[in-house]
This record gives sequence, C-alpha cells and structure tokens, in this order.
Amino acid sequence: MINIALPKGRLGEKVYNMFEAAGFECPSIREVNRKLIFTNEDKGVSFFWVKPSDVAIYVERGAADIGVAGKDILLEYRPDVYELLDLDLGKCRMAVAGPSDFRDDPTKTLRVATKFERIARTHYAGLCRDIDIIHLNGSIELAPILGLSDVIVDIVETGSTLKENDLVVLETILPISARLIANKSAFKFKNAAIRTLTARLGEQVETRKRETAVAAQS
Ligand code: PRP
Repeated sequence: MINIALPKGRLGEKVYNMFEAAGFECPSIREVNRKLIFTNEDKGVSFFWVKPSDVAIYVERGAADIGVAGKDILLEYRPDVYELLDLDLGKCRMAVAGPSDFRDDPTKTLRVATKFERIARTHYAGLCRDIDIIHLNGSIELAPILGLSDVIVDIVETGSTLKENDLVVLETILPISARLIANKSAFKFKNAAIRTLTARLGEQVETRKRETAVAAQS
C-alpha cells in the first residue's frame, strides 16, 4: 500500500487527476463528503487530503509515503524528504513587493513582512542587506499599506492581490511549483512502486509541456 498526502483544494484535485491517469486511481475520492482518507485496496493506494502547508510534515514523519508540496514550503521548512519530480503545476513566484514608489534606503534596516522567514532571510543575506523580519500568517499585503513594513516577501500567482492593494512586484526571488516528495525510508522499502508512479507522472508532465509548446506556436 502506498500512502499519499495530497494538498486540499484546486491544486490537489489536479494532482489527483494525474495519479488517476497514472493508473493509481481511487474513485471514492470523487464522492462529495467530508472524508479525509480514501483507499483503493485493489490498486494499493490510500489518499489523504491534507492542508497544503502540512503535506511535507506527513511525508517527513512517514505518516504518508509520498505527497505533493509547493517548492515554497520545501525551501522554507527544509523537510528531510526526497524531492522526486517537478509536477509543473501550481506555478507562481516568490517575490518582494511593495508600493510602486518604494525606494530602498540602504542606511536604514529594511522592514520585511512575510510568512516565509527563511526564504526572505536567505534572499537578503545574499544581498548583504540588513532586515527586520515581521512574521505574519496571512494577508501579508496589509503590512506595507498600514506602515507595518516597508516591503513584503510573498507568493504572487496572478498578481491580482497586489494590484487590488496598489502594490507592485519589486523583485522576483524564485519560481515556485508543486513537487512530488517521498519519505526517505518509504522510498527504500516501496521503491519499485514509487519509481513506477514517478515515471508515469513524469511522462504526463513532459506530454503536457509538449502540448503547451505546440499550442503556443500555433
Ligand atoms: C496567497 C499569497 C497572496 C495571494 C497571491 O495568499 O499570500 O496573498 O495568494 O495570489 P494572486 O497573485 O493570484 O493574487 P493566500 O490566498 O494563500 O492567503 P493568505 O493571505 O492567507 O496568505
């Protein structure tokens, strides 16, 4: 049996479709109810719906053998897991954002609001820039508007949250996407099944990329 932690929400549904197309389906997951665990004994899979930011914890501690987590979470919490595949889904970017008229004053400590403290510290350490981190858990965009911080480090997907709050991207730190991750001992003991699954998901990613490239050309 392979235990799989999926991120609850729209991304998780897309990811489940990939597992299904890879031959690891579990039809009961499509029933509308509040259940969190779905098992298909015949296929040897069990899926759990997990809060996206918790997937890596389940996998690191072995409650799930594999799972799908955003690169942002992997960089921020550095869980001790194997990263097997870039699923090329849930694409967004980690960015520094602030008011459009923001000008950095290097003589002052920069106040940075974020829930991605490690990513922000690493970024500014690379620039040798002194910062004061203000750790928030959500609605980060409020911080520069209310004068709580100078800038924010946050995820930008469509850019509409920034736009609707009169903020702009000042700098892109790195691109983010969903990754297939594995528990280290599960990868050893369930190696054949995990490798088969990873290869089939990888084929789907490559096909999708080819189709997107063809569509972009025509
Ligand atoms: C995330 C992120 C931004 C928003 C970006 O927030 O923190 O606020 O999405 O998306 P956009 O570029 O498509 O507008 P989330 O919805 O996770 O809520 P949060 O405020 O609790 O972080």
